[in-house]
Amino acid sequence: MPLSPSHPLVDGRTANAPLIRAYRGDRPERTPVWFMRQAGRSLPEYRELRAGGDMLQACLTPEMASEITLQPVRRHGVDAGIFFSDIVVPVLLAGVDVRIVGGRGPVIDEPVRTASDVLKLRPIDPAALDPVREAVAMTVAELGTTPLIGFAGAPFTLAAYLVEGGPSKDQMRARALMHSDPQTWATLLNWCADITGEFLKAQIEAGASAAQLFDSWIGSVSQNDYLRRVAPHSKRAFSHLRGLDVPKVHFGLGTERILPDIANLGVDAIGIDWRLPLDEANAMLGGRFPLQGNIDPAFLGARRPTLTAHVDAVLDAGHAAPAHVVNLGHGVPPETDPDVLTGLVRYIHGELPD
Ligand code: CP3
Repeated sequence: MPLSPSHPLVDGRTANAPLIRAYRGDRPERTPVWFMRQAGRSLPEYRELRAGGDMLQACLTPEMASEITLQPVRRHGVDAGIFFSDIVVPVLLAGVDVRIVGGRGPVIDEPVRTASDVLKLRPIDPAALDPVREAVAMTVAELGTTPLIGFAGAPFTLAAYLVEGGPSKDQMRARALMHSDPQTWATLLNWCADITGEFLKAQIEAGASAAQLFDSWIGSVSQNDYLRRVAPHSKRAFSHLRGLDVPKVHFGLGTERILPDIANLGVDAIGIDWRLPLDEANAMLGGRFPLQGNIDPAFLGARRPTLTAHVDAVLDAGHAAPAHVVNLGHGVPPETDPDVLTGLVRYIHGELPD
């Protein structure tokens, strides 16, 4: 099914937005910028709204998810909203008991580790995605010509949480399952691809204008294992968007060795973490992809001239690529001064001398 005639990309609201033009390989007059984790704890208005409430419950309360998504767009004037949710929301909607522990991340008290654990996993009931659709629809109605980015976790990163039961240093248990029982691993990754793919599709159908897949833990996997045991499942996640003409973006941490394989996932643009300069990434990709990134979040607390020099270097390196969407090389740290982010947006938009 194609995008509906009232989708913002189809009815003209976002088709020519700088973000969408850049994802499609163009260099608009205004360089687009947004920040991963722009909605969240760096904003006092977020902390006030969330006070005491459960994180995943907030994600599934449409008015709240929508308001939190809009907060950084209003405050910073970024070129995109990113839907306020979490990569584990589809896991929860599929009936797996997962909660988010502050300062730690997603925790699953009964990890998925054996063939029989995997066989118990069920698909998402489509009606369970209604709060997601509703929140997206409310948000895009407010955003007007600013595109909303839909997102989902990549199958490997989701599987790492499921097998480990929480965040882990090197995803040892997950990688051990990959090698000791490849069949069970493949079944688990297919399940992850399908729930995350449906979550992403629900956001796009409801009005999101781009789709980003986050593979935050992929840096622990060898190139050979990525190619054989992971990439086909990331492709499967994106395949849920077949027929929906939106830019697809991949972001992972520590992807230097696997960039050529990411290029083969069928994406339109590639996000790069802070460790790899964009001109080098561009050379490794044969100059074929718009790049997104990659201001080191560790500079956000530095003195203004130090930060500006770093941002200038990122912008310079980004000129090597066919197109550039400015972002951080990972998420906004919670202790970031929000005024620094607002200043960055104005600087990148050319509205401030330095
Ligand atoms: O602004 C945005 O980027 C949109 C919202 C968003 C959240 N999580 C909200 C959130 C997005 C895109 C994510 C993705 C996500 N979630 C990833 C991929 C990106 C990345 O950072 O690598 C991952 C690995 C997760 C899992 C997760 N959820 C972690 C590691 C945490 C942080 C735990 C902590 O307290 O440090 C969460 C919780 C979470 N997700 C918060 C937010 C705003 C903080 C929860 C709170 O407010 O208490």
